[in-house]
Amino acid sequence: MKTIAISSQKGGSGKSTVTIHLAVAAANSGMDVLVADLDPHSQTAAEWASEREIDTPLVVKANTQDIVQLTAQAKDEGFDLLIFDCPPYVDDVVKVATEVADYTLIPAQPRFADIRTLPRVINNVAPPFAVVLNACQVGLNGQESSKTREARMLLEDAGIFVAPLHITRREAFADALNGGTAVYEFEPGGKAAKEIDRLWSWLQEVWNG
Ligand SMILES: Nc1ncnc2c1ncn2[C@@H]1O[C@H](COP(=O)(O)OP(=O)(O)OP(=O)(O)O)[C@@H](O)[C@H]1O
Ligand SMILES: [Mg+2]
Repeated sequence: MKTIAISSQKGGSGKSTVTIHLAVAAANSGMDVLVADLDPHSQTAAEWASEREIDTPLVVKANTQDIVQLTAQAKDEGFDLLIFDCPPYVDDVVKVATEVADYTLIPAQPRFADIRTLPRVINNVAPPFAVVLNACQVGLNGQESSKTREARMLLEDAGIFVAPLHITRREAFADALNGGTAVYEFEPGGKAAKEIDRLWSWLQEVWNG
């Protein structure tokens, strides 16, 4: 079983959006996927699942004390992938979840205020991890926009690893979640779905070395 944490101290950076979409991508590829919603305030993933008509991926609510036990149980029960959707603060929950995880993704919007704080708070995230630039402007010819490129360079100059792909700001990501769906079901074969496919493929390449 692989375990991923999706973490960022910044509220609204896209943690739950990335969590849900990676979970659906993995489930679509035939994996048994468990999502642990570790955010007692928003519970975005848990609420999304409650509106969903199908019961995959399975989403459960959990807190810091549950993480180690839940991970062992998920492994015993034969899940292939466990994803932690972390809350937007730096706390024990983030420390434990990112320590348990094989890999952590940190969604960040390419805005100066968001990027600037990252080098300071990243010490609380257990490696290995990568930042994934999310809600990026559409660039020309499918390239990165100048803002996205600048954010990438700022982070890389600070020695922070940034995934070599980005997720664009698309209404489909926001609208899909309303009915407990994901962009695969909401807009099958669309650009948003292709971006998640790329993220999911890249993540598997990272695991497989
Ligand atoms: N790539 C995107 N394109 C368009 N909208 C997006 C994108 N990513 C996230 N959003 C929207 O931004 C808002 C915040 O996203 P989300 O809930 O995933 O962030 P979060 O980091 O989990 O927030 P919190 O810190 O509150 O848990 C939501 O309305 C979501 O639909
Ligand atoms: Mg969230």
